[in-house]
Amino acid sequence: MSKLKVLGMQQEVVMVEKPKETKQETSTKSEPQSIDTLPGVGAATAEKLREAGFDTLMSLAVASPAELVEVCAIGESVAKRIINVARSKLDMGFETGIDLLKRRQEVIRLSTGSKAFDAMIGGGFETGAISEAYGEFGSSKSQIAHVLAVRTQLPVEQGGSNGSVIFIDGESTFRPERIKQIAESLKIDPIETLKNIAVARAFNSDHQMLIAEKTEDLIKQKMASDRPVRLIVVDSLTSHFRADFVGRGQLADRQQKLNKHMHTLMKLASQYNLCVYVTNQVMAKPDTFFGDPTAAIGGHIVGHNSQTRIYLRKGKKGTRVGKLVDSPYLADAECIFRITDAGLEDVEE
Ligand code: GTP
Ligand code: MG
Repeated sequence: MSKLKVLGMQQEVVMVEKPKETKQETSTKSEPQSIDTLPGVGAATAEKLREAGFDTLMSLAVASPAELVEVCAIGESVAKRIINVARSKLDMGFETGIDLLKRRQEVIRLSTGSKAFDAMIGGGFETGAISEAYGEFGSSKSQIAHVLAVRTQLPVEQGGSNGSVIFIDGESTFRPERIKQIAESLKIDPIETLKNIAVARAFNSDHQMLIAEKTEDLIKQKMASDRPVRLIVVDSLTSHFRADFVGRGQLADRQQKLNKHMHTLMKLASQYNLCVYVTNQVMAKPDTFFGDPTAAIGGHIVGHNSQTRIYLRKGKKGTRVGKLVDSPYLADAECIFRITDAGLEDVEE
């Protein structure tokens, strides 16, 4: 049933095309998912788990013992047992290549409005995955976030997804006036556009992690509507973590928390088939003699958790250059674009 929960959510989305059988399958198979059916888990523990958000077998099966210990105040051996029982009760079966192909076909690509940029990333920012943009100040990380927040709302034929947006704002960068401006240039209602963006300001790294976890309620609620959440922006992913964990002694803690945060985001991306766009700063690498003397914050943790990584920098004459750094199936490539009042635009060469 591991994949069922994941697919079940996605099936709700495609239900418009495939009505009856899917519905029935989801409802019958989702019954045994309740954590109350777990042998050896008493009512009090079940309640604690539920309060901490572990309300399905799937959520327990993919949890780590340390997570349960931390949030439910239970012993490690109990946590391990609960996880194991949840896993054994779930059909953690293999997916066939066909299943995977089907899931790939459900992926929606969100257009940036720049043909060159879209082409570089294989047609647009993918749902079901985390995409990371990193680069120095003014390299256009936040502008791309705003453009995506508007364009996600366009119909699929216009490169959108008919979706709504959650914007986790860690740097007070969200600008409603900019959203209005981009919407107006696309000739869509600016007020409606703003209504479809839920903004949450994160005050520190713990708060940011909590917000990410809490978004699931909103996502579930919107799932049944005609505007499911198709984009979560986290701008910036790393700045609070950088500020809250200073010094080498805290590096391991910071990385562990960042990893957990990104796992939360990854789960949301794949369970609900939505795009997670995160931004990240760079730091100077003083020991670099060849190549680019900058590196993304968060190191391997952030890198490995992002399916697509784009390095942004300033180009000639006010242009911006995007470089695809790490993609599972696309060749490394570059594109040049410009930020205008309308959003991202191609540069004629
Ligand atoms: P930091 O968050 O500081 O690390 O930078 P960033 O990468 O998020 O840069 P951001 O996306 O905020 O800005 C990129 C560029 O977009 C700026 O240098 C401006 O040239 C341009 N820009 C920002 N706001 C606007 C706007 O409202 N209209 C237009 N036309 N351009 C803008
Ligand atoms: Mg920014």
